[in-house]
Amino acid sequence: MSELARLIERQIATAGPMTVADYMATALGHPQHGYYMNRDPFGRDGDFITAPEISQIFGELIGIWCVAVWRMMGVPSRFNLVELGPGRGTLMADALRATSQSQGFRQAANVALVETSPVLRAAQKRTLAAHEIVWCDSVDAVPDGPVLLIANEFFDALPVHQLVRTVDGWRERLVGQDGTGFRFMLSADATPATALLTSDIRTGAPVDSVAEVQPAGLAIAAAVADRIKSDGGAALIIDYGYAESAVGETLQAVRQHEPQDVLLMPGDADLTAHVDFAALGRATAGKATLCGPCGQGAFLQNLGIAIRAERLAEQATSSQAEDIASGVRRLIADDEMGSLFKVLGIASHDLSPLPGFGS
Ligand SMILES: C[S@@+](CC[C@H](N)C(=O)[O-])C[C@H]1O[C@@H](n2cnc3c(N)ncnc32)[C@H](O)[C@@H]1O
Repeated sequence: MSELARLIERQIATAGPMTVADYMATALGHPQHGYYMNRDPFGRDGDFITAPEISQIFGELIGIWCVAVWRMMGVPSRFNLVELGPGRGTLMADALRATSQSQGFRQAANVALVETSPVLRAAQKRTLAAHEIVWCDSVDAVPDGPVLLIANEFFDALPVHQLVRTVDGWRERLVGQDGTGFRFMLSADATPATALLTSDIRTGAPVDSVAEVQPAGLAIAAAVADRIKSDGGAALIIDYGYAESAVGETLQAVRQHEPQDVLLMPGDADLTAHVDFAALGRATAGKATLCGPCGQGAFLQNLGIAIRAERLAEQATSSQAEDIASGVRRLIADDEMGSLFKVLGIASHDLSPLPGFGS
């Protein structure tokens, strides 16, 4: 049993079963033993791979998107170029490289990374050694001023509560233990997380339905929208998930690219849940304008991924050209990341529609 599993076991023995959200937050973010706190989980030798690690074109197109929106903003001489959960810093490095010809952009950008993991902060420092970077603990800690903010596969890593409809009403799924390991159980009564269900789901979901709500994600989406409302700018949230709030159990564990039992290896497997884009949109209500969500495939095609891939392939060896083509396919094909992954734009009212979302 891992050190973190022992700590969780002790906590449950002392304080009773914990919510799935507390279990997920501890498994991913415990200061010493949390999954993200002591490893670089990306790539073939890691647990999973993300879009910027699949193809440099992903970050490059995001960089070009940022320049286009910066111009729509009237080329402010200072703004915050923010990334939430930047992983190895690959997306930001590719984005900054793609903006090098855009006069004034790099000088105007204060690059601010919001990252909790010390190991990944160190990786970002190495990847972005050529750039001046500041690290922040939260969106609220980003310096004042307009923002262009990117969050790729960030919201899926934030804790979700799981609620189950029983014949007696909604109950919360908890993590307890039975002597042989961790076990799911239900709360005796309704819990405050129930208030975050839409009224359709709260009243209409059949018995045995499982629904997920994510107060941590809603709070961050609201903080992003507050900043956009007060100082101007725009954000892109890219993740896998669903466009409309729906019932469904999506919490999953992945280790070495294989699904795992969620309760088996806390701290040693990645835990994620699909993002409810409609709920994030509702959290921004009255503060900003929404664009999308649309599929990642459509978004990248609108930004010109085919032309960018062609240009890159012109200077590549034949095996590099094959890698470029297979990376692009992975990013945009409907049977790969093109539809499951979605892009939501959040913009100050004067910046809508944002580039990439079609007409
Ligand atoms: C799945 S990785 C995505 C990395 C990167 N965006 C990419 O696409 O390769 C999630 C990232 O979010 C960070 N993270 C997770 N929870 C966080 C939190 N509450 N605040 C800041 N960063 C967090 C992780 O350390 C990691 O860098």
